Amino acid sequence: MCGIVGYSGRAAAAPLVFAGLKRLEYRGYDSVGIATLDGNNIQIIKKQGKVSSLENFVDGLSGNTGIGHTRWATHGKPSDINAHPHACGKFAVVHNGIIENYAELKARYFPDISFTSRTDSEIIVRLLDKFYSGNLLQTLKEVSSLLKGSYAVLVICADFNGFAVMKYKSPVIIGGGRGESFAASDAPALAGLCKKISVLEDGDFAIVSAHRIKIYDNNLNPVVRQKIINHATAASLDLNGCAHYMQKEILENPTAVENTVKAFSRVQGKLKEVFTDINRVIITGCGTAYNSGLVAKRYIESFARIPAEAEIAGEFRYKNPVITSGTAVIAISQSGETADTVEAAKLAKSLGAKVIAVTNAPYSALTLISDVVVPVAAGHEICVAATKSYTGQIAALYLTAKLLASFNKKSAVRLMKNAKAEICSVVPLLKSTVAHTDIEALAQVCARADGVYFLGRDIDYAVALEGSLKLKEITYIQSEGYPAGELKHGTLALIDENKTAVVIITDEGLSVKCENAVEQVLSRKGKVAVITNVKECAERLKDEVPVIEIPACPKELSPLLSAAAVQLLAYKTAIILDRNPDQPRNLAKSVTVE
Ligand code: F6R
Repeated sequence: MCGIVGYSGRAAAAPLVFAGLKRLEYRGYDSVGIATLDGNNIQIIKKQGKVSSLENFVDGLSGNTGIGHTRWATHGKPSDINAHPHACGKFAVVHNGIIENYAELKARYFPDISFTSRTDSEIIVRLLDKFYSGNLLQTLKEVSSLLKGSYAVLVICADFNGFAVMKYKSPVIIGGGRGESFAASDAPALAGLCKKISVLEDGDFAIVSAHRIKIYDNNLNPVVRQKIINHATAASLDLNGCAHYMQKEILENPTAVENTVKAFSRVQGKLKEVFTDINRVIITGCGTAYNSGLVAKRYIESFARIPAEAEIAGEFRYKNPVITSGTAVIAISQSGETADTVEAAKLAKSLGAKVIAVTNAPYSALTLISDVVVPVAAGHEICVAATKSYTGQIAALYLTAKLLASFNKKSAVRLMKNAKAEICSVVPLLKSTVAHTDIEALAQVCARADGVYFLGRDIDYAVALEGSLKLKEITYIQSEGYPAGELKHGTLALIDENKTAVVIITDEGLSVKCENAVEQVLSRKGKVAVITNVKECAERLKDEVPVIEIPACPKELSPLLSAAAVQLLAYKTAIILDRNPDQPRNLAKSVTVE
């Protein structure tokens, strides 16, 4: 959340920074700004609105060094004034994160000064200006020692031909070569610009100019940080003829699943070591990642018969969790940067748990604190709403649970081989689901509904929660995921002719019971549609309600297909309502603040 980009080199900085911000727009899109340095003159342009709001102003900014920001507002509403960069004296800064003690610092150091903006970030530039001694690095260190919270900050100073970086709990990568250097929040910003990138660690500083990148740890000792390949390429960020990233990424579900299965083999041995002597599993994450954790709980309990709980990361942290050395905590996060998930994993680790990260981001805050990383090989996900990362997570978690179940079994090798083959057998079915599911009519019904309830039992309930989250976040239609059997215990009171229930039925054994929920809604004049791969259920219901049939597959893997169907439903509904599915209001990807 909030994207930052820095450049220093031979070219005009502003267009390059602008292009980087466009590629980071999924991190926030309520305001945007760029500062450049020309000689020792700092120029700034900033506007409320999306990155494109700056399009006509970029050429007016001169200089070969620049920093930019695309914002997701925390403190201070979206406005031109609250947009970054913030400037004071010889400095301009862009900031991703939250300075939790900004009010305290303001009262202490600037009691009589009224700040220009209502942001927490302005304190950083005010402090830099106040403490500047002529030594930029020392000043950064001094200022950072006062800050509480999280920050990835890029700084330009009129005295230095380049830019500086401070990083704590918010991500920063740096790359360079051939007389150009770059920094950004995330790899896509540097697609096609840097093949190798260094990942900064908490407490690091960097002094970056066209020909030199110097990284320092918190004691100002020069350090070399891990260099990774930047897999983001201009081609990988292309829409490939799709209208939106969400559409493209739904179509990429099968590849995400297939690649995740392949990648699992790399970590199988290490994961087995970490799982030794585990007698309880806690799965944690936020939003969609938590929802995939609900599926994982069912996998672990039914395959391995080990007690498993799924906990929302932001809650887990504050409930004084019971953790022993026999506890494994599986922390799921597409970005690997979600503050609540990272902090939950840190807490679990400090209490003696083994921590397993399941993530798309192999070098992230989460992976740095984990005992083992189970890769989700879904590739970059640009749409704010998670799609292919969810199915990738389901594949990774299925194999993780199967591995736990294979412990002490003679047939362990065969069991894992079979598990991978099972998932691979569903990939063609997933291809057909994303390509051919006809969801348009149901999307029309949902688009006109006052509220949509996603219902299911057991594993279908877990997917119902994900369907509801997807629909509400990109269409703004009130929606709830509910256990089908629980409807009659209260929620049925809300059903009337303006409400729609989407009932997911993929378990033959539970089908008749779920059909009761269908009847209960119909009897209260609510509209109902069913997503199912149970043939008999489709036959029984098809004359009564719209039935969306998905392919039959092994019961436990049905979330791969039913999730793709509810993703398509949310997408089509958003299009009917003329919402931008890639950039839903008030949201951003990678929630790096608590
Ligand atoms: C929903 C969505 C969010 C994320 C949540 C966690 O479509 O994208 O609910 O799932 O913010 O993000 P990660 O997985 O990056 O930790």
